[in-house]
Amino acid sequence: MQPISRRRALQLGGLGLLSAVAGGAGLTWQSAAGFDTAPGLALTEPELLRSSGGGLQVTLRAAQGPTRVAGRDSTTLSYNGGLPGPTLYLQPGDRLQVRLVNDLDAPTNLHVHGLYVSPAGNGDNAFVVVQPGESFDYDHQLPDDHPPGVYWYHPHHHGMVADQVFGGLYGAIVVGDPEPVAVTRERVLVISDLTLDGSGRVSAPSAMARMAGREGELLLINGQSRPVLTARPGERERWRIVNACSARYLRLRLDGQQLQLLGLDSGRYPEPRDVEGVVLAPGNRSDLLVTANEGSGVLQALPYDRGGTGGMMAGSTSSDGAGITLATLDVTGAAVAALPPVATQPSARDLRGLTVGGRRDLTFAMGMGGGGVQFTIDGKVFDPERVDQAVQLGTVEEWTLTNASSMDHPMHLHVWPMQVVAEGGKPLDEVMLRDVVNIPAGSQVTVRVAFDRYPGRTVYHCHILDHEDNGMMGVLTAT
Ligand code: C2O
Ligand code: CU
Ligand code: CU
Repeated sequence: MQPISRRRALQLGGLGLLSAVAGGAGLTWQSAAGFDTAPGLALTEPELLRSSGGGLQVTLRAAQGPTRVAGRDSTTLSYNGGLPGPTLYLQPGDRLQVRLVNDLDAPTNLHVHGLYVSPAGNGDNAFVVVQPGESFDYDHQLPDDHPPGVYWYHPHHHGMVADQVFGGLYGAIVVGDPEPVAVTRERVLVISDLTLDGSGRVSAPSAMARMAGREGELLLINGQSRPVLTARPGERERWRIVNACSARYLRLRLDGQQLQLLGLDSGRYPEPRDVEGVVLAPGNRSDLLVTANEGSGVLQALPYDRGGTGGMMAGSTSSDGAGITLATLDVTGAAVAALPPVATQPSARDLRGLTVGGRRDLTFAMGMGGGGVQFTIDGKVFDPERVDQAVQLGTVEEWTLTNASSMDHPMHLHVWPMQVVAEGGKPLDEVMLRDVVNIPAGSQVTVRVAFDRYPGRTVYHCHILDHEDNGMMGVLTAT
């Protein structure tokens, strides 16, 4: 392994300063000396808190303190002392009550990313501010028809989101299926990245990393570096994967094993799809079936080119092409009998067949302003007092999302999932519901959204959290 300093020097010399930051996904080293980055430890999972009798009540305490990261004692942020925080396992129709206790030294709040719940009052209200030493009681009523899938929670206080998420504040939420899928075991895999200094504290990003979107040196699964998963041949596992990285795209591969995608972000496909891997933009999740084949498979994050921050460095984020090892799946022992096929699901409603009641164009761009580089939507930076999009409940809208910059922006809309209907001008002929939709650099994506329920005020933004904090966010009201 090359020393970081030399590798970094090569990057800086060969690719330009900014692109070296944006291209962090292509780096193969893991971290500074002292971290246990050798494979070998069995995967652990966050504490599982399951609803019962139609509800779940939890307290999440956000604080800075001792955590275990990549096998080493560290000092990070966390919910309830764990990195990630506990997994909240719900069923459609449940009531989720969360008391958020802020023991940080900065304001925070809590967002339930992807849940189809009200954005008003003490629901999934992105405008709530919980001051240090205070607490807030959130109350979420999931509808009976809530789509199954994997969701997550994280702070959303504008200006501090990247610092707080990167620092360790995130956890998974699972919404169960109306009809269970037969599997040998389920796993929750929260993928995050982090940079720690020699004393195990979270490093502050450079100004350039803030611009490109910070990527951590350590790539973690459930806070571990390169854990080992074991299975017997023929066993079928369900992996619920969350990309909780602040800016890093995950192009995941697991060679030699059988992969099927049950769903992405929100809901399930009618039938599992055979895939070779999956690309998750920051904020995306995947619900994956892995049928184990004898041998060992390496779960890798392959390089992903998300562009540069402009000027002479634009787009030059190529790398040496190597992937980062996230985990190893060891498949040994006697083979087990195959499980029955997964039952067909009803298809999600196809919004292409419905009347469009409103059309909007949103342009994501980067430019100079306010004394530096600004990330804007329709030429504006975020203003919580301004309403950027006023939609009428009961309508289906079509939004054309244009990326006029030289980097990808993963666009996220709270509450209402988006159906991607065209990418780069080409219509899609499948129903894909997402709550984070990547808009590649210099490209265009068209989505439809059914604003069926939930009056209130909420936000949409780039899920590269540094861009959101910088201003790439807008306000939407539904009435
Ligand atoms: Cu995952 Cu508005 O965020
Ligand atoms: Cu969200
Ligand atoms: Cu962005």
